[in-house]
Amino acid sequence: MKINKKTSWAFMALVLIAWSCADPGEVSPELNDPDDEDMGEIAIPLKELFEAYFPIGAAVTPQQATASSPHGQALQTHFSSLTAENVMKPDALQRVKGQYTWTNADQIVQFAKDNNMKVRGHTLTWHSQSPDWMFYDENGDLHTPEVAMKQLEEHITTVVSRYKGDVYAWDVVNEAMFDWDPNGQIIYREDSPWFKIMGPAYIDSAFVYARRADPDAKLFYNDYNSIFSWKRNKIYDLVKRLKDNGIPIDGIGLQGHWSVNTSEADIRTTLDLFRTLDVEIQITELDLPVYTSNDEADSEVYTSTFSFRQKVAYSMIFNVLLDYSDIITNVTFWGIGDDHTWLDKPGRKAFPFLLDEELQPKPVYFEVQNLVLNR
Ligand code: GLA
Repeated sequence: MKINKKTSWAFMALVLIAWSCADPGEVSPELNDPDDEDMGEIAIPLKELFEAYFPIGAAVTPQQATASSPHGQALQTHFSSLTAENVMKPDALQRVKGQYTWTNADQIVQFAKDNNMKVRGHTLTWHSQSPDWMFYDENGDLHTPEVAMKQLEEHITTVVSRYKGDVYAWDVVNEAMFDWDPNGQIIYREDSPWFKIMGPAYIDSAFVYARRADPDAKLFYNDYNSIFSWKRNKIYDLVKRLKDNGIPIDGIGLQGHWSVNTSEADIRTTLDLFRTLDVEIQITELDLPVYTSNDEADSEVYTSTFSFRQKVAYSMIFNVLLDYSDIITNVTFWGIGDDHTWLDKPGRKAFPFLLDEELQPKPVYFEVQNLVLNR
């Protein structure tokens, strides 16, 4: 780290020399623009920047995971872990009962292997993006618990076995806890067809099936809004119950769909709480849209205000993640660069990443880089 720190000091010295040689009457537009002050710096690839701490991942489409595409090249440069954005979800792998479609998922796994990257598997059990046949019979009625459980076992066993040794961590269950409930009365997401059929038993079973199919894969429970008190306590109780009952679970995935307003205290409190469970933590779907609220005016331009907000927020977040790097074993962005994100709406761009629409480092990238180098 010291060598890199020196490099950034050397850069600052060069800037000062250049500045002192310039005509004092001449005002450089670059130096007046706070967002341009970093642009002479050399970007250290993210995977090298964070090498001592955790793998850095991206969620990808199969088209992006090709060596000849600009996205593939950005992946090769910056990332050491991949997650399939959609093509490993139940409706992508087994849309029709008994007929598996592997081509897209295989493409991502092969690209990762070719480039010495890890793969996070996402996701085995979810109420969303899952085919209707998993839940309903031909009359539209919910299956019996026996039928649904058998189908869950078959799906998990087939998928995990296929990628045994290639997928190192699985999001075994996604989003099973009820989201908004300040009084803590409703624990599980009761509108999930899985829950309607058999209550929370599917959660326990999913972990057991996954462990049987690949004893070496790390098994995660993954959810959003996990840093808020009303939800983190439910996740804590769930994971504690699973562990107390001998259900194999290795970690908790915090999706990390955070915002430029995200509270440092919320993240730290959550990590402190989950640490007591003796599990790994992975940030599985990190993105940070530039708006402070849904009511803020739409923009298709990345303004200096947005840049400033992201510099502050991303620096805070990575500073915290580095503080907890003894328990954090992966940090994955839910995309590569600002050109492709689920957060964009017509006329309203979210610009949520460290790489821009051309997959080049943004000013916030250098802010994070300097933070890491100066620790
Ligand atoms: C959730 C899911 C992901 C993805 C994102 C948004 O967080 O876990 O698979 O669908 O929403 O796209």
